[in-house]
Amino acid sequence: MPRIALIPGDGIGVEVVREARRLLEALNDSESINFELVEWDLGADRYLRDGTTITDDEFRSLSDDYDAVLLGALGDPRVPGNEHAKDILLGMRFKLDLYVNFRPCVLLAPELCPLRDVPGSLRLETFRENTEGAYTGMGGSFKTGTPDEVAIEEDVNTRKGVERIIRAAFEFAHTRGRERVTLVDKSNVQRHVGGLYRRVFAEVGEGYPDIAQDAMYVDAMAMDLVRRPERYQVIVTSNLFGDIISDLAAEITGGLGLAPSANMNPGRQALFEPVHGSAPDIAGQNKANPIGAIRCVGLMLDYFGHAEIGERVEAAVAASVREGRTTPDLGGDLSTEDVGQWISAHIAKGTPAST
Ligand code: NAD
Ligand code: IPM
Ligand code: MN
Repeated sequence: MPRIALIPGDGIGVEVVREARRLLEALNDSESINFELVEWDLGADRYLRDGTTITDDEFRSLSDDYDAVLLGALGDPRVPGNEHAKDILLGMRFKLDLYVNFRPCVLLAPELCPLRDVPGSLRLETFRENTEGAYTGMGGSFKTGTPDEVAIEEDVNTRKGVERIIRAAFEFAHTRGRERVTLVDKSNVQRHVGGLYRRVFAEVGEGYPDIAQDAMYVDAMAMDLVRRPERYQVIVTSNLFGDIISDLAAEITGGLGLAPSANMNPGRQALFEPVHGSAPDIAGQNKANPIGAIRCVGLMLDYFGHAEIGERVEAAVAASVREGRTTPDLGGDLSTEDVGQWISAHIAKGTPAST
């Protein structure tokens, strides 16, 4: 029986994880799965209460006693340095060595696309390197706060790290029948890092002759994703560029409220989280879109070998959008809770819900 740690976290994280939990509980009742759900109190409130972000023992427990984690969001205006998010979220990605940050974006209905020339269909799947790059915290600052201040943030990339994320992207494309893998980098300026990415991409790509392969500079890619997003399918890139490109891909396919992600080290533990943050501007108003978190449940089901139930989650999400059962970000007037209830009921019944 998979044991899942639920970490609602901050802001709308609490509201959207409540809906993901509702769905997991409905599936526990109606399907042949039995996920044990244990809620964890980690986030800004706890940090402000006792000064603790996450302890070594808690890390050990998440890693040894659980099969997966579902996290809402971390980020709170009362913690401007974001210390707790760095310790908890980046801590899990780094310490558990979850090197694949898989961020699939699918356009469910043409009217969700903000572009003028809307493509017929769109599936943009980003493989973001998740354990190195500009996120290691290596560097430092000197003469801080003076006019002579120096600030250094290293971009650390290893042959091993680059190869395993590129391999994961190609393997996914190969097993799931995708036709193109695109590398995104800035190798015209970052010769060392970009050079490594380009060399390894070409080497690994030789093993996948049936998959179209191209490499784009990140600035041109940002432009081209707006100009002709239908050209792209699987995107592989470094940690920082992946953070940026995946928000762009999410917006093109309907917005941050819809986008899920899976942080994985295949065969080991996984961390699922919506791509969006804690959205302080709408927190506590019961209007956040819970679909990103609900789609995380779909990814989790796929991960635990229940692909068919995962597809039904996707189908229920698509039905909610088709029927206009949506939160205000998608033009609807339902609450977070209404959308969560509708989707759970739709799946549990196996037929369109009547409310
Ligand atoms: P954000 O994703 O929280 O919000 C950006 C915009 O998108 C806001 O206008 C927000 O209202 C909207 N939005 C986001 N999710 C939505 C949803 N589910 N439904 C409807 N609208 C939604 O990004 P931000 O404002 O840059 O960051 C806020 C805080 O969250 C910061 O502290 C940031 O560091 C943190 N953050 C955390 C994570 C995470 O925990 N995985 C991810 C991104 C940002
Ligand atoms: C994300 C977020 C995080 C990141 C922040 C909150 C540390 O933006 O998951 O996309 O930069 O990876
Ligand atoms: Mn981000």
